[in-house]
Amino acid sequence: MKILVVGGGGREHAIIKSLKKSPRVSEIYAAPGNGGIAADAICTGIGAKDLDAITAFAKDNAIDFAVVAPDDPLVLGAVDRLEAIGIPCFGPNKAAAILEGSKVFSKDLMKKYNIPTAEYAVFDDMDQALAYLKTAPIPTVVKADGLALGKGVTVAMTREEAEEAVRACMEDKIFGESGSHIVIEEFLTGPEVSVLSFTDGNVVIPMVSSMDHKRIGDGDTGPNTGGMGTIAPNPYYTDEIAKTCMETIFLPTMHAMNAEGRTFKGCLYFGLMLTENGPKVIEYNCRFGDPETQVVLPLLESDLLTIMEATAKGELDKTEVKFSDKSACCLVLASQGYPKKYETGYPITIPADLDAEVYVAGAKLDDGVLKTSGGRVLGVSAIGNTLKEAIEKAYREGAKVKFENAYCRKDIGAKALRAEEEVK
Ligand code: AMP
Ligand code: GLY
Repeated sequence: MKILVVGGGGREHAIIKSLKKSPRVSEIYAAPGNGGIAADAICTGIGAKDLDAITAFAKDNAIDFAVVAPDDPLVLGAVDRLEAIGIPCFGPNKAAAILEGSKVFSKDLMKKYNIPTAEYAVFDDMDQALAYLKTAPIPTVVKADGLALGKGVTVAMTREEAEEAVRACMEDKIFGESGSHIVIEEFLTGPEVSVLSFTDGNVVIPMVSSMDHKRIGDGDTGPNTGGMGTIAPNPYYTDEIAKTCMETIFLPTMHAMNAEGRTFKGCLYFGLMLTENGPKVIEYNCRFGDPETQVVLPLLESDLLTIMEATAKGELDKTEVKFSDKSACCLVLASQGYPKKYETGYPITIPADLDAEVYVAGAKLDDGVLKTSGGRVLGVSAIGNTLKEAIEKAYREGAKVKFENAYCRKDIGAKALRAEEEVK
């Protein structure tokens, strides 16, 4: 089968490497792909948001199945466009992708269907938002309604910081139209867990749980990034919590979307916080997480293409989805300076006998030489019998991947190892 994967980051590289294991896959095309993905797929260079070019390419090249991985094309309706020309897809349609595309929509849905989440208020008028903040409990959380490259959330520790975030969204419009509506939300505390799931509107099948490390610095310090590393499974996510989440969050969300006439098919990502009052939803994503995918898919033992096709057809209940009981750790190597200013263009060396997978995010081929081209350059994912083993292996093998000015956190998984002791 000829497969088209829309996207061009580390997540897409992990999806492509996983799909390649399927005996039924003959060719994989990526839109756009990147210099590292080029080793595993044919990179078309077509932008992930260029829906006209994507549909034309899929038609001209007789693509049998498409996987739309990033949020933007999903929210823009890439799946609707591809399905309209008869190409089956993995990913939610536009009506369902709104679950990530609009925070106001997702908060209102959770309220309507009693799905546990932080208390909130919605504003489309800046003066009203600022008036509300005068008496709101602090800390508080300010969220731009729409997609904002993952930067639309401010956890404000002071009233001034919250006001600044409101002005940035609504006056300075730093996120464009995304910030013309905002959500101001109760500040929750507790361990965070990412749970990606396959759902076709009939069943929800959670994948192995994971933990992201969003801040740039060790000990969760410094600015937020696109994710500096992940581990799976997440030790905080016990069987008991998993059961509660299935009953109070996962199934109710699937049923709510069905009831709204917005059946969700694809990967539904639950960003959860385990609070003193039980698990609550911090965010929904309508897609695989990045870099969660880089630890989740290496642990998948079943055939990814079969699962994706079954999801599209609404036949997930008949499909085996099995994960290994091993652990995984993904270490992200970034360009020094990221998420602020950084330099690129440095050659990357990856030993051929590396005992880990490399998922390339920000690199391009320059005369056949792989060179850095982005902030997050690549992820090194290792599997171990225990979490400790996976972490040690990721660091040992990660040290063999070299480029100038490389930066990585030194404590990916450290919190999870401590949690393992706590929950024992
Ligand atoms: P997001 O950009 O939606 O992934 O959010 C970034 C981070 O902000 C989350 O991973 C949480 O750590 C934090 N966050 C979001 N909402 C809340 C909340 N209501 N309370 C506390 N922290 C939050
Ligand atoms: N790792 C968080 C996300 O993909 O949004």
